[in-house]
Amino acid sequence: MAERLAGKRIFLTGAAQGIGLAIAEACLAEGAKLFLVDRDGALLDKAVAGLAAPHGHIGHVATDISNGAAIAAAVRQAGDAIGPINALINNAGMNVFSTPLEASEEEWNRNFDVNVKGAWNCSKAVLPDMLASGGGAILNIASTHGFTIIPHTFPYPVAKHALLGLTKSLALEYAGQGVRVNALAPGYVETQKALDYWNSFPDPVAARASTMALHPGGRIASAREIALASVFMISDECPFMNAATLVVDGGLSQLQHPA
Ligand SMILES: NC(=O)c1ccc[n+]([C@@H]2O[C@H](COP(=O)([O-])OP(=O)(O)OC[C@H]3O[C@@H](n4cnc5c(N)ncnc54)[C@H](O)[C@@H]3O)[C@@H](O)[C@H]2O)c1
Repeated sequence: MAERLAGKRIFLTGAAQGIGLAIAEACLAEGAKLFLVDRDGALLDKAVAGLAAPHGHIGHVATDISNGAAIAAAVRQAGDAIGPINALINNAGMNVFSTPLEASEEEWNRNFDVNVKGAWNCSKAVLPDMLASGGGAILNIASTHGFTIIPHTFPYPVAKHALLGLTKSLALEYAGQGVRVNALAPGYVETQKALDYWNSFPDPVAARASTMALHPGGRIASAREIALASVFMISDECPFMNAATLVVDGGLSQLQHPA
């Protein structure tokens, strides 16, 4: 069977663990070439060493997506390593959770620098090659925080709402030039980020159990389940999907309240 991502040269951020690493595994299995970015160099080296890439289809560099000049350089390095980038997956992100009156200016800035500006930096760096070659695909890993609010998680959802705005802006700007820009909105996913969240409660075991109980199916997503949806969205299997947000949350965001 043909590999679904043959010919894709993907720049993937936040690839050292969690959803990003699962996306890297799934994309490699479908024949993509990858250039991986993460700000945690040691973790990224370990992740790359563990990835099965028999044809040497992986390049990587440790860098911070909030640094526009560094990302421009990383995209040039990616071009040298795997060829001009024709697909971007903006996955790197971080929780910044507080309340509106307690959030510091530093937290506000960090939240937007990583969760919004980081995606913009990467998009800006890859778009010229995509436009010059007649097209490409950008996928932003957003969140159900992009259209719903959990109190005491401010200002993270403000940034995820903005990421959906960035998705739509770029999608409409370049729709006539072959570039598709979409978002994927996971609900809760079993990753280090989720563990850190549960560990922030006095009783992490109870916090985890109550998260599971919130979900119509009684469980949250695995990182692989998010990766499989990402493969579809970055592939050529949905050529008319543009400016869309695919929600992958087990139905949680459609639940008014439990029976
Ligand atoms: N885990 C969830 O429940 C969940 C739910 C919805 C959306 N998301 C989103 O999915 C994405 C991945 O989340 P995850 O759970 O895998 O997180 P994670 O914390 O497990 O992994 C994120 C990776 O991104 C890297 N990273 C963070 N900031 C970076 C920066 N400035 N520059 C470069 N790399 C950076 C980290 O080093 C880390 O390796 C994020 O955008 C997150 O907001 C996660």
